[in-house]
Amino acid sequence: MTPEALAALHARCFTVPRPFNAAEFRGFLVSAHTVLVSRPSGFALGRVFTDEAELLTLAVAPEARRNGHGRALVAELEAEAMAKGAHRVFLEVAEANVAARRLYAAAGYRESGIRKGYYRHAGRPAEDAVVMDKLLKRT
Ligand SMILES: CC(C)(COP(=O)(O)OP(=O)(O)OC[C@H]1O[C@@H](n2cnc3c(N)ncnc32)[C@H](O)[C@@H]1OP(=O)(O)O)[C@@H](O)C(=O)NCCC(=O)NCCS
Repeated sequence: MTPEALAALHARCFTVPRPFNAAEFRGFLVSAHTVLVSRPSGFALGRVFTDEAELLTLAVAPEARRNGHGRALVAELEAEAMAKGAHRVFLEVAEANVAARRLYAAAGYRESGIRKGYYRHAGRPAEDAVVMDKLLKRT
């Protein structure tokens, strides 16, 4: 997917946190640390530093949801991160994002902390982020 296509889909999926724009996606994509897995209906973006991966964002088009794409994208991103040497994945998710928190919990992520007021946007109350993480199993 191009940076423009990623930004267009992201804008359809996010208000909090705000969507990344095409320039931000372009910046991620030039880094050797970045992992992107995608399909026409969605994508997952992460980065790997040494043995730790961060799942930066996950987006599935509204009309394609509840078909297992989100779950599959997370699994694909984990596999790519493991191939790059990651042993653990962590992420932040808005406390009110019940759909994503359920998806991550079902995928084996545990809630390991809270970042108070992590999401700040003009004109809205700050929102807490839940930190979740998962140890990746090697076969
Ligand atoms: C969160 C998101 C990625 C889920 O994508 P999806 O393709 O619909 O997810 P899946 O179909 O793989 O669902 C996997 C599981 O997650 C949970 N889940 C997903 N959407 C849910 C919802 N709306 N309500 C409750 N649980 C939900 C369920 O446990 C589901 O399993 P089930 O369908 O067997 O019950 C999608 O809703 C989205 O893009 N949301 C906007 C962006 C976002 O919040 N991204 C994640 C934060 S970074």
